[in-house]
Amino acid sequence: MHIQQAITQQTGRITVHGWVYRERGSNTMRFLVVRDTDNILQCVIKKDAVPEEVWELAQTIKVEAAVTLTGDLRADPRAPTGVELQVEELIIVGEANDFPITKDQSIEHLANNRHLWLRSRYMNAILKVRHECFVGFREYFMQHGFYEYHSPIFQATQAEGGSDLFSVKYFDSEVYLSQTWQLYAEAGIFSLENIFTIAPTFRAENSKTSRHLTEFWMAEMEMAWSEFADIQEHAQGVVKHIVARVLKNCQEQLTILQRDTRELVAARDNPFVTLTYDQAIDLLKEHGMDVPWGKDLRTAEEELICQQFDVPVVVTNYPTAVKAFYMKLVPGRPEAVQGCDVLVKGVGEIIGGSQREEDIEKIIDRLKRDGEDPEEYSMYLDTRRYGSVPHGGFGLGMERIIAWVCGLDSVKDAIPFPRTPLRYSP
Ligand code: 4AD
Ligand code: MG
Repeated sequence: MHIQQAITQQTGRITVHGWVYRERGSNTMRFLVVRDTDNILQCVIKKDAVPEEVWELAQTIKVEAAVTLTGDLRADPRAPTGVELQVEELIIVGEANDFPITKDQSIEHLANNRHLWLRSRYMNAILKVRHECFVGFREYFMQHGFYEYHSPIFQATQAEGGSDLFSVKYFDSEVYLSQTWQLYAEAGIFSLENIFTIAPTFRAENSKTSRHLTEFWMAEMEMAWSEFADIQEHAQGVVKHIVARVLKNCQEQLTILQRDTRELVAARDNPFVTLTYDQAIDLLKEHGMDVPWGKDLRTAEEELICQQFDVPVVVTNYPTAVKAFYMKLVPGRPEAVQGCDVLVKGVGEIIGGSQREEDIEKIIDRLKRDGEDPEEYSMYLDTRRYGSVPHGGFGLGMERIIAWVCGLDSVKDAIPFPRTPLRYSP
């Protein structure tokens, strides 16, 4: 039986299994707090109530041993979850060595023992929120009639900036790990029209910040026949849907993580604020930050913008010079693009998206601007040669939204095994 079920049931003879979370005892009694994926249960082994072998066995149990316990369940207000198991039978399913993680370990020690730290209630809570975020993304787009579609991870060209590429030896050639599904997604909409994916994504960004990983999961959508407004609407819609799902299913986890949920409730219940880049620059100026027009917004600037509102902020119409080659120009204003970022407090950008440029000549010019050879993009350019339609899409950084929803200091805790410039193991 699961521990949660035992806690709900309160009484009766039951068998539970789990791992020893804490243990202490005296000459006559041994207390084990046992955990499973959902909760903890206090179990007591009394010397005079069990056969001698059981008592002897109980003396050998160490933290993180896997055990099966049978006994009588009783309500006990002193026990951490309000019930206590009076143990009669005990099986050690898997013995434990001395567990290397005890109280108050350094971040470095926890990172080196990440495979064991995953068992903590802290990581358990985050991993459950992570699950809900993934399900929430998929559910939203399925409800809106989008198909799940997949792009290759080995790719022949860049899509989001040549300097951030991981290259991999591919027999006698060299290929790159995917920075985005986008160029392949744009080919896919001509068949399926509306599509989404959730996939591993790689960026060789040598930035040791709290919001960059070298391997992360990006959830992306691409939509045929769209207008720029549709892209922004779905970006907002899916964030709201994910937040609503987490608030509905993860209250316990948010409590463990000590997340103040007012910000999440506000995001769920109210429209997001939308600002053009120009308005964002003016707002920053009012608050003492002078950003010359044409500069990208950095983390500090994104944070200052977010601090002015109770809900996430969508910034649109960024300068063309700071955005990717495929973004559609704002009509009559070639210095700005129909691109949008969704920003949240504490993390900054969680979504980047745009309406896509349809004019093949403009795309070619901008590829050249970026020092790329248009010849290598013939697959992509074909999407504009055979029945091109207005379309657009965005990418949501899963670890970033998870870090925000959980209120984490860093995206590193939003993924089981973070990969950063300095760490690729365990
Ligand atoms: O803004 P980005 O670079 O957009 C794209 O890649 C588009 N091709 C997506 C699309 O339109 N289909 O990345 C999208 C999001 C960012 O907003 C951020 O949340 C996340 O991906 N991201 C990262 N997350 C963790 N570590 C990194 N190094 C990240 N780089 C981007
Ligand atoms: Mg971006």
